[in-house]
Amino acid sequence: MTEKNIVLVGFMGSGKSVVARSLADRTGAELVAIDALIEARTGKSIGAIFKEHGEGHFRDLETEVIREVSLRRGLIIDCGGGTVLRKENLQNLKANGIVFYLEASPEVIYERIKNEKHRPLLKVPDPLGCIKEMYQQRLPLYKQADYTIDANDASIEGPVGEILQKTRTA
Ligand code: S3P
Repeated sequence: MTEKNIVLVGFMGSGKSVVARSLADRTGAELVAIDALIEARTGKSIGAIFKEHGEGHFRDLETEVIREVSLRRGLIIDCGGGTVLRKENLQNLKANGIVFYLEASPEVIYERIKNEKHRPLLKVPDPLGCIKEMYQQRLPLYKQADYTIDANDASIEGPVGEILQKTRTA
């Protein structure tokens, strides 16, 4: 199969997972979630990997899995929010894929994820402040995606339609 992968990047809570699921349902393509693959391979939750081995080790695992998955084609790839932190990851993902950045504001992200407990990087006293800071640091990296998609709206229909349309014309 020569079809390009559809790759989703963006901050935690930007809607990558639900958009990826919908894209897979609509296209019939296989969905690969990088975090889920890391959890399946290690037999540990992302939270436990951070806690027991630290963020650096998690990033190594993430880079390894992305390198491997990027060699395949015709996939919908749902990436963790920190994927863009290593240049190599985006390079690998772009080799066989079109990368979409799902953009949502820090305030929208905070509202979506404030009651969730499984994200290790947000277990801090001031999660909104932390989101804003990380957002500023990462924005230039996310912008290196092939396309930026507005994901502020609660409905995923807009982003899904736009990604499918851009994929067809790419
Ligand atoms: C991370 C985002 C998480 C997960 C890990 C680190 C990040 O994925 O990979 O907790 O650095 O932004 P989601 O974006 O799917 O929450």
